[in-house]
Amino acid sequence: MQHGLAWTPDDVDIERPSVARMYDYFLGGSHNFASDRDLAKQAQEVFPDAPHVVRANRSFLGRAVAALCALGVDQFLDLGSGIPTVGNVHEIVAAHRSGARTVYVDSDPVAVAHASALLRDTDRVAVVHADLRNPDAVLRGAVETGELGLSIPTAVLLVSVLPFVPDEDDPARIVAAYRDATVPGSYLAISHGTNDYRPKQVGEVENVYAKTTQPGVFRGKTEVERFFDGYELLEPGLVDIIHWRPEPAALAADPLGGDVARYSLIAGVGRRRG
Ligand SMILES: C[S@@+](CC[C@H](N)C(=O)[O-])C[C@H]1O[C@@H](n2cnc3c(N)ncnc32)[C@H](O)[C@@H]1O
Repeated sequence: MQHGLAWTPDDVDIERPSVARMYDYFLGGSHNFASDRDLAKQAQEVFPDAPHVVRANRSFLGRAVAALCALGVDQFLDLGSGIPTVGNVHEIVAAHRSGARTVYVDSDPVAVAHASALLRDTDRVAVVHADLRNPDAVLRGAVETGELGLSIPTAVLLVSVLPFVPDEDDPARIVAAYRDATVPGSYLAISHGTNDYRPKQVGEVENVYAKTTQPGVFRGKTEVERFFDGYELLEPGLVDIIHWRPEPAALAADPLGGDVARYSLIAGVGRRRG
């Protein structure tokens, strides 16, 4: 189908909601279609705080990347990077560690097309269209861009993307493959929706997301902790997302009154052991 939109490849079925475009809608972006908006509204009916949750997720991403820059990380591999929006990883990196490089990876054709067009003339950034469930292909593609080398520490970012890797694909094995491909002193950042607080409500969200191209699942903190095998968690550990190194003023003005159950989102950053 011809969409006539530079950021949407013609073979994309815009009638089928996509996780990347729904996320863009929740963030107030304009790279989404009626099907995405309709399903996002259904998700919001069962989880009214969704727009706050996605903003808290982006805020964590920014704090984590800034912290990793301060630790001297020179390359970032952002897996499931999404449709470019405000506060993209390469922008945070440029603000905190000039010279560091970012490789974005996503399986969504719109996310990749838009990012590629936007970043065509930007140095030290590359975009790879790949499925993170195939670490060999992802790493090969990332290295081929010339922006990533596996002999120096890398920060692997898996921010709100592991929910879209179902248990049958063995997400722990996939995360371990990235760990094993990187050198000691590399880092892993994860945020993940949790079913520890409101299992019934998040189960209804899962039912809504089952209608997308990438159904998603929430997991318990114990399950998410296992993704950090081989990593030492940085302070404050794997915690409710608003408590991961918050800006004191932001926490004081938290739009959900600091109610972590309303976020049902946890996050952590780990350093790969030697
Ligand atoms: C909720 S968005 C998160 C975007 C970004 N990481 C953030 O936190 O702002 C999830 C993204 O992961 C991507 N994604 C889901 N499954 C994927 C897979 N198997 N391989 C690569 N990307 C994937 C989706 O296309 C979407 O862009």
